[in-house]
Amino acid sequence: MESTLKYIKKNKKRFLNELLEFLTIPSVSADPAYKKSVKEAAQFLEAKMKEAGLDKVKIYPTKGHPIVFGQKIIDAALPTILVYGHYDVQPPDPIDLWESGPFKPVVKKTKLHPEGAIFARGACDDKGQAYMHVKAFEAMVETGNLACNVKFMMEGEEEVGSVHLESFCRKYQKMLKSDVVLISDTSIIANDVPSVTVGLRGLSYLEVEITGPNRDLHSGVYGGAVANPANVLCDMISKLVDNDGHINIPGFYKDVVELSAEERKSMNKAPFSIKKYKEHLDIEAINGEKGYTTLERSSIRPSLDVNGIWGGYTGEGAKTVLPSKAYAKISMRLVPNQNPEKITALFAKYFNKLAPKGVSVKVTPHHGGMPAVTPTDTDEYRAAHLAMKASFGKNPIPQRGGGSIPIVAMFEDVFNVKSVLMGFGLDSDNIHSPNEHYGLFNYYKGIETIPYYFHYYKELKNKNL
Ligand code: BES
Ligand code: MN
Ligand code: MN
Repeated sequence: MESTLKYIKKNKKRFLNELLEFLTIPSVSADPAYKKSVKEAAQFLEAKMKEAGLDKVKIYPTKGHPIVFGQKIIDAALPTILVYGHYDVQPPDPIDLWESGPFKPVVKKTKLHPEGAIFARGACDDKGQAYMHVKAFEAMVETGNLACNVKFMMEGEEEVGSVHLESFCRKYQKMLKSDVVLISDTSIIANDVPSVTVGLRGLSYLEVEITGPNRDLHSGVYGGAVANPANVLCDMISKLVDNDGHINIPGFYKDVVELSAEERKSMNKAPFSIKKYKEHLDIEAINGEKGYTTLERSSIRPSLDVNGIWGGYTGEGAKTVLPSKAYAKISMRLVPNQNPEKITALFAKYFNKLAPKGVSVKVTPHHGGMPAVTPTDTDEYRAAHLAMKASFGKNPIPQRGGGSIPIVAMFEDVFNVKSVLMGFGLDSDNIHSPNEHYGLFNYYKGIETIPYYFHYYKELKNKNL
């Protein structure tokens, strides 16, 4: 391990510069205007994966964005780790709020990252974290310390629901066979409080459209006499969640797994400061479902949020208009054992019922994802625990995450293989927001921790053969 760590130290500067170059490619998967750039990012990865010493590196086209695969099989008797990451990123807007260009990476110091952080879209989610694995692999190979077989599967559609990943996985089931999926696409609690993510929320995402009169109307001539779709939409949305933060959709909580008092007690022992949380967000009060803590509300409880809402006149100044249509994008974060399709159907039924006469409702489902919990009593998890302990010098805390990564439940389904969520970002790194960043400490710590994972995973597997 010594020589691998030394190699990483010696090549730090280059590892950083390569990531900075990767981050200049605007691989926004949601917007067709960026399609070429997404491909370019795949080609960048392909080249770097080859350079690092992976075999069979190839770009696999899908009906959407491509998947990059590569592997290094050193000994069929050794365990195989499948590294999953995504090279696509969220749209950068609102662009005006970025202090530097989203695709012009710069390194700046922040309060939580005194050693400096890389500012760019994708720095943390997930180009920076995915690239750590390419560099850790290079370091292991170059120093003769690759302890396990490894496969890389890097996708370009995670941020749009991984819609073509499942059919790819089914088609190439043999090629993708592994003992564990290792993913760095989540957070640690703090740079001095390491943690391993042991669960993710699922997602049901949909768009609603309310239609009133057949055209936009003069809001003086018609105002007060015709149902205004924008007013109606706000009223309907306000009925989805009550003042106690409870979601009103009938049947919504039916499949929700409640945690035991002990489980809740133990998860609330994790270090968490409401004061710092509020300060960081510039809010005076926290909010959420009655009877649950902030940590619980953002991980083991479902939620419903408007992600965007529009209709009528939204340009400069005032235009007196009663819109014909109003729209909203709504997400529901789900917990075990809620099913995204079932929840979407329940939502649609209730939302239609909420509509007054005089408007029509259209609900269009987007992508979804199943919630997931990863067990802690396995060699797969233990290896992550030991690896983080070795690199951070502290025992990591198991913690459920609030975001979603569709592949986790899907892989369990298709391959019966568990994932390990060993991420290194911070919740405060502004992923999906303007000024996303990733600490240099976190980038390098990740590169150092991965070889430990390989080392311990091999050791644990050997012991238990
Ligand atoms: N890396 C995130 C998920 C995440 C972030 C999990 C932080 C835990 C902590 C991932 O890229 C993401 O944003 N996923 C989407 C999934 C969706 C588009 C299906 C999400 O959660 O919104
Ligand atoms: Mn991600
Ligand atoms: Mn993301």
